[in-house]
Amino acid sequence: MPIQFSVNGQPVNLDQKDQEMPLLWFLREKMQLTGSKFGCGIGQCGACTVHLNGSAVRSCLLPVGQLQGSAIRTIEGLASGTDLHPVQQAWLDEDVPQCGYCQAGQIMAAVALLEQVNDRSEEQVNAHMSNICRCGTYTRIRKAIKLVAA
Ligand code: FES
Repeated sequence: MPIQFSVNGQPVNLDQKDQEMPLLWFLREKMQLTGSKFGCGIGQCGACTVHLNGSAVRSCLLPVGQLQGSAIRTIEGLASGTDLHPVQQAWLDEDVPQCGYCQAGQIMAAVALLEQVNDRSEEQVNAHMSNICRCGTYTRIRKAIKLVAA
């Protein structure tokens, strides 16, 4: 049975044959939305983080067949035209990225945190920001989150 969901507000109708495909590959291969990255493929690193109905999820483990009626948001859906999302702007202001590979996932995790969690204590931020960065940009990530939360 076909399923319907949306990606960055764009409706998607999916027939039976693609429903086992992980969302990450659907976004990258079928929709050419390549901001979300493949890191580990086992739900550990967070490079593939997108939003499912506003919550951060790891798209490498999520079959598109489970998305009936869902709203997906990716890094490509954050900016409004040429206006960056405040979290994207904070990432620039704090010069967060080094190699950059994990940063789309980091930003999506940070946006979900700031939209959904009122408690911005260090403990809560640490609990929600579990994405891995091999360059070790964690200090600048925390500074950018503080800048938006202030
Ligand atoms: Fe999905 Fe690492 S690629 S968590």
